Amino acid sequence: MSYGHIPVMLDEVLEYLAPRAGQKFIDCTLGGAGYTMALAEAVGGSGRVISLDLDELAIQNAASQIKSRQLSNIVLVNDSFKNLNQVISSRFPAQTKFDGIVLDLGLSSAQLDDEARGFSFKGERPLNMAFGPLSDNSTVRIVNQYPLLDLTRVFREYGEERRAYQIAKAIVSERRGKKIATTAELVAIIERVVPPRFRSKIHPATRVFQALRMETNRELEALTAVLPQAAQLLKPKGRLVVVSFHSGEDRIVKRFFKASSDLQILTKRPLTPRDSEIEANPRARSAKFRAASKI
Ligand SMILES: C[S@@+](CC[C@H](N)C(=O)[O-])C[C@H]1O[C@@H](n2cnc3c(N)ncnc32)[C@H](O)[C@@H]1O
Repeated sequence: MSYGHIPVMLDEVLEYLAPRAGQKFIDCTLGGAGYTMALAEAVGGSGRVISLDLDELAIQNAASQIKSRQLSNIVLVNDSFKNLNQVISSRFPAQTKFDGIVLDLGLSSAQLDDEARGFSFKGERPLNMAFGPLSDNSTVRIVNQYPLLDLTRVFREYGEERRAYQIAKAIVSERRGKKIATTAELVAIIERVVPPRFRSKIHPATRVFQALRMETNRELEALTAVLPQAAQLLKPKGRLVVVSFHSGEDRIVKRFFKASSDLQILTKRPLTPRDSEIEANPRARSAKFRAASKI
């Protein structure tokens, strides 16, 4: 099985986490296991990497990589990082602390390309943008049942979509006749609202799809919930690294770092990928990297 994803800003993640033999790390967003495998290699057989993902396919892919590489220092957990304390306390002795914790938010390339799910507006796919069965909400429910103003808010807040109200109105009118069940049906509605002459370089459905994904998985709520848990699980001098792709996420991280008296900020401004990385992997272009160290 292939579960493709090129890890974003991996050099910077390793530079700031500076993993050494015997240390313990948490990768809150396993994805294609790029960070996890690099950390596992650095900490060696006496160290540990605990990796979480909501997506069962990410877990299965990592499990087969672990088997073929005969690794014994990675613990995989199919759960949300919003439950981090519970995940750790059910597997480690009380008061276990970690040398570093990393989050790489959003979705993986494998998820975007997965035809069984509807993260991409290309082709005809089921309207399902859940990272996994444990995700908090359902895309079909949001699109077919949210009242007009709630839909508008989601598109405006998470998608920064200028035509949020018009698109929400068109959806509400369409669903009166028939349930909206596929990505292609949704794209057709959005394309009718945004005529070609008003379109920018990005596809007119981009912002709506991003907003629906964030609402389906309640992504900002999960991030807000995990940050204090992560800070509390760090050893003194342990490091917390967050790579984000949305201004709302970056704001939450920035404010949390600033407000935490037990964290020292290591990146005054967020780092961004080098030009060479963006050239090699255009999906990295909107990444923002922030790091802090436990005092
Ligand atoms: C950008 S990918 C991570 C890529 C990874 N760093 C790598 O090197 O391949 C983000 C992953 O986080 C997962 N994810 C998103 N929200 C989550 C949550 N609340 N709990 C656990 N996993 C989550 C997604 O399912 C996805 O697999």
